[in-house]
This record gives sequence, C-alpha cells and structure tokens, in this order.
Amino acid sequence: MDHEKLVVSGGNPLRGRIEAGGAKNSALKLMAATLLAEGSYRIERVPRIVDVQTMVQVLGRLGCATTFEGNTLTVDVPAEPGTEAPYDLVRQMRASIIVLGPLLARRGHARVSMPGGCAIGSRKIDLHLRGLERMGAEIAMDHGYLDARCDRLTGTRVVLDFPSVGATENLIMAGVLAKGTTRIENAAREPEIADLCAMLATMGARIAGAGTPDVEIEGVDALRATDHVVVGDRIEAGTYLIAAAATGGDVTVTGVAPKHLDLPLQKLADAGAQVDAGVNEVRVAMPGGPKPVDFVTLPFPGFPTDLMPQMMVLCSLAGGDSIATENVFESRFMFVDEIRRMGADIRLDGHHAAIRGGARLQAAPVRAPDIRAGAALVIAALAAEGETEITGLGFIDRGYERIEERLATLGARIERRVPR
Ligand code: UD1
Repeated sequence: MDHEKLVVSGGNPLRGRIEAGGAKNSALKLMAATLLAEGSYRIERVPRIVDVQTMVQVLGRLGCATTFEGNTLTVDVPAEPGTEAPYDLVRQMRASIIVLGPLLARRGHARVSMPGGCAIGSRKIDLHLRGLERMGAEIAMDHGYLDARCDRLTGTRVVLDFPSVGATENLIMAGVLAKGTTRIENAAREPEIADLCAMLATMGARIAGAGTPDVEIEGVDALRATDHVVVGDRIEAGTYLIAAAATGGDVTVTGVAPKHLDLPLQKLADAGAQVDAGVNEVRVAMPGGPKPVDFVTLPFPGFPTDLMPQMMVLCSLAGGDSIATENVFESRFMFVDEIRRMGADIRLDGHHAAIRGGARLQAAPVRAPDIRAGAALVIAALAAEGETEITGLGFIDRGYERIEERLATLGARIERRVPR
C-alpha cells in the first residue's frame, strides 16, 4: 500500500547467495501469449509482483481463469476470449498494450485503452500500431480506446524505426497466426523476446531468428496451449549485483544467464569489482571503493536502461566523475532529484548526466518515482549513513518480489513498515 515504507539502515556490505526470480518483462508477455490458443497453460517461475497481478486481472476480464501455486501460474483460456482491456487496468500498467497483437490475431478484434503518460517519458506506441496496420488491421481511436479490427492478419515486411521491445513482441504475436510470412527487421533483441518466441514455438508457432534483429514468422492456422518456465530476471539480478558493489559486499546471484548481463558486468569490472561469471550464476565482489565509469544505455545487448538509475548510485560513490547517457527513454532522469536529496551530486544536460563521485550518501526520507528508480533508492539507502525511509513502494512492488525479504537474506538491514 502507498503508506507502507521501507526502513533501511545503511552501511552494511551485502554478502551471500540469492536466486533471481523469473523475468517480469518476460512473464507479462508470456501471459498475453496464452490468448493465442485455447486450453490450459502452466507457467513456472512467475514472479509474484504487482504487474503480474495486474496482468492476471487483464486475463480475467478477457474470460481466462488463473491460479497461482507458489510461483507457478496456471492459465485456462476459453475458446473465445473477450476482446477488451479496460482503462482501469491499462492505466495501472502500460505493458497491458501487449494483448493487442494476440487478440487481433486470435479474435480479429481488440479494444484496448490507450495507455496514458508515464514517469519516464511519453512512451509512444506508434510502431506497434503502424506494424499492425501494415498487416491489415484497421485501427481507430474511440473515446480513449484503440479499436482494432481485421479479418485475418496478413504477413508482411515491417522495418521498425527503433528496436522497440513492445512493438517487436506485439508484431511477433500478431504474425504467428497471420496468413503468410511476417518479417520484422530492426527488431529488438532482448532475451525476454527470445523467451517469448521459445514458448510460442512449443505452441506450434514457426519463428526463425528469435533474439536477432531479423525475425521471420511463418503464420500457422492454429496454436495449442503449452507449459513454460520463465527466463531469469537479468534486471533483478543486476540490481542485487550493483547493490553488492555499492555496499562493498560479495554476492552471487544464481538462476540468471551472465550473457544476458554482459555490459553491466563489464561496467562493474571497470568500476573495480571482481566479477566471476559461471554458466547460470554470477558473483560480484567489491573489495575497495568503486572507480568511476561512463556508460550509455542502448537496446540489448547495450547497457539496459532498466539498470541505469541503480548504476548511477554506484557512480555517485566512486572516487571520480562519471557520465551516464540515456538513449532509450526521453525523460528517465527525473528520479535524480530524489537521489540528490541523499547527497548525490548529479548535473543533467539533456540525455547526459554528469555524476560527481565521492558522495557520502546520507539517509533522508525519499519517495520512489518509478520501479527502477525505486530500486536505485534502495541501493542508495543501503550504502548511506543512517536510516532511510522510502515511500512509494507501490512502484517497487510492481517489479520486485518482496524486495526487503530478499535483501535481508544478504544481510541488509531493511524492513517494511505497515501503518496501523
Ligand atoms: C520494455 C520494458 C521496459 C524497458 C524497455 C526498454 C516491458 C514490460 N517493459 O518497455 O522495462 O525499459 O523495454 O528496454 O517489457 N517507442 C516509440 N514508439 C513505439 C514504441 C516505443 O517511439 O511504438 C519508444 C519509446 O517511447 C521509448 C523507446 O521507444 O522511448 C523504447 O521503448 P520500448 O522498447 O517499446 O519499451 P517497452 O516495450 O515499452
């Protein structure tokens, strides 16, 4: 709830092993993909986070039944799912727009609320819509809703202006049931897209080039329900590893592919961390104080924008100045004001941030402005002197499952206080 807060006593190095959960940004799309075929799905390693709960509600409104057992989600999809994703849910989570492609492909109709604004930029969806229109959909705006219709989508060649993750996924899910071949060029390459394609393949989809900039989809007439295990969350893992470095700790994260974290690990090594990557786990230890590092966010395999705020906290602690450049979202630096309240010295110039090192971060009451900036505030609090109170947990809980319990297993002094 919004009045809950995290209370963090800083100055304790994080140590130990922790397993990453399944990726939020994969699980949400896999859940949408179930709409493509009737039947019962069993998806394992689904994180119990608020965004997943929102997608559970979206599926519920579309007539699907869901049950959770631990981190295993069962979804039962009817022969004719509904076609409307309403405003009250899309407003809570923009990623709900991902049902557009599957519903159009399966039902020939989708009515999805236009997503509103967002704390990190205006986040347009023109590439999703243009691609679907090229495949034969007719899309109109109707009282704040996108109303999309088609007979059967037709495969075509779509070249994306920018490798948008959501647009790539919507078009892939539109293509799997389309007539003929859909070719997406300049597609996004995030590992979560490869995970989505892996599940679609077991449903009977024919996809070549998954996880590359050139995805080719041969449409089929029908798909079938399947079981799947969600890929490990590289962003959650990266958050813990940066927290380890920022506190001078030594943490091993298991259940994540280090190759999904190439650049963050390289930057941590440049910052002076000892990095040991195994097959499905990675250890980061920071024996001395961090060194400054410059980094630039880019679509995968570039440095992920979802780890930018966390990395900026590490840079604030470094013995020199760093420059962070944000290329994916237009106004993702808005959180900087909160971190400044804890003593970080950061100057902004357009999409560049100059981070003066050597900050002695101090506890202060702060408020999480979005999911990843919230995680960055937690890291700052773990590295700061004194007791920090973080509100705005609604955001942190959208992306991290019980963050306080998980960090406490690494020795963090952190607790959630719920007002009576
Ligand atoms: C996904 C992730 C998010 C991550 C982001 C970039 C999910 C649920 N969210 O978001 O955590 O930060 O990828 O890695 O998976 N754009 C357009 N037109 C479009 C689509 C996008 O201009 O039609 C722009 C956006 O405004 C943004 C940039 O492209 O500036 C990247 O957006 P995109 O890759 O689509 O991110 P999401 O799928 O929204």
